[in-house]
Amino acid sequence: MKIAMVGSGYVGLVSGACFADFGHDVVCIDKDESKIARLKDGVMPIYEPGLDSLVASNVNARRLSFTTDLAEAIEGAQAIFIAVGTPSRRGDGHADLTFVYEVAREVGEKLANDAVIVTKSTVPVGTGDEVERIIKDTGTAHNFAVVSNPEFLREGAAIGDFKHPDRIVIGAEDDLGRDIMREVYRPLFLNESPILFVGRRTSELIKYAANAFLATKITFINEMADLCEKVGADVQDVARGIGMDNRIGSKFLHAGPGYGGSCFPKDTLALLKTAEDYDSPTRIVEAVVKTNESRKRAMGRKVLEALGGAEAARGKKVAMLGLTFKPNTDDMRDSPAIAIAQTLGDAGVKVAAFDPEGMDIAKPLMPDVSMCEQPYEAIEGADAVAIVTEWDAFRALDLNRVKELANAPVLVDLRNIYNPDDVRAAGFEYSSVGRS
Ligand code: UGA
Repeated sequence: MKIAMVGSGYVGLVSGACFADFGHDVVCIDKDESKIARLKDGVMPIYEPGLDSLVASNVNARRLSFTTDLAEAIEGAQAIFIAVGTPSRRGDGHADLTFVYEVAREVGEKLANDAVIVTKSTVPVGTGDEVERIIKDTGTAHNFAVVSNPEFLREGAAIGDFKHPDRIVIGAEDDLGRDIMREVYRPLFLNESPILFVGRRTSELIKYAANAFLATKITFINEMADLCEKVGADVQDVARGIGMDNRIGSKFLHAGPGYGGSCFPKDTLALLKTAEDYDSPTRIVEAVVKTNESRKRAMGRKVLEALGGAEAARGKKVAMLGLTFKPNTDDMRDSPAIAIAQTLGDAGVKVAAFDPEGMDIAKPLMPDVSMCEQPYEAIEGADAVAIVTEWDAFRALDLNRVKELANAPVLVDLRNIYNPDDVRAAGFEYSSVGRS
């Protein structure tokens, strides 16, 4: 089947490459000429493990190609995916649908055959109805169906998530939509991945409900972590103890500095806006958003405490290990590291940082932070080392070397990747999250 993927960003590119790998004939489209030129040269616009080789092998097999020409790309395509960005609209947190609607209009105008138009971008409830209206208004003579097919990929694990999904959600209102989508996902269906067919609005809401629920789970365990510190309990054991209950489940119960990234912060805000628009408040999600936001700066204050409090911290130096919102990505969007560095900077603390992939993007976002070539360079002369992102490279630091290089043996582990007994036995003052 020929598939057109409009938007060659994170979601479009990963989905396009994976569909091609399943044997479909995929054309990825983007307005950004330089991005398409680079993709044609095999240069990925994002860092995602395994993506470059997946793209290369499918380009070589002539199943995957890139273009800026939408009309040519959608000609003969039975499924046309819209995978463009839906950023938070400035000022009100609503998802900005400008790009989605522009693509819908252009697709309608250039449609050359019957096709299913699939929104893969994360879009608020009702967007599919509007896309359908826009395409109808172009006066196209072809039969078309508009389907919602949200993605549940995690950055850093996106290819695995795409190929072995927990479920595939399809929101379709008619047989044309359902039949074509069944064909699109047939390779996965044979792998026994469950496909859930629901109404279009339901599908749109499933995406937001899933992300809001996961954000809630994280925020819940983060609050439990704070309580653990006060009452002398261990949040890792609490997470294990509740997670073994199948009704709760063990995933997404890892306490840390708060969630970030391109999805949870944006999608929780957009869900709040939808709830407000429909006069159906979601108080839990409201609390999650506020709690997570304040947590990031609170983590900066935790580092200040390790330096002896805000007064004593002035003029000291912190080595920050990890900047991205999570490992295996170069994505800095809403990363807790930004708020933590700001809190430290406001308190007159100098910050030197190292991140395996995120430093180029981080630099303009954190102008007062000095970026280092490797972790030990950041640690040199530091009064405290703060682990902010759990990159594998930080899991086995040479603690003796850290002690030699640092000004003081102080380790603040915001991701709980060290065993407190080991680190203390190595002579460190050690603080972590939710482990008193
Ligand atoms: C998230 C969802 O997990 C995906 O299913 C979804 O498709 C995606 O958003 C999206 O909507 O596009 P992602 O943002 O890539 O994926 O990252 P996650 O692995 O979910 O992590 C999000 C944040 O939560 C990170 O800052 C991470 O450090 C934090 N987190 C995660 C925790 O603090 N504790 C946990 O136990 C899990």
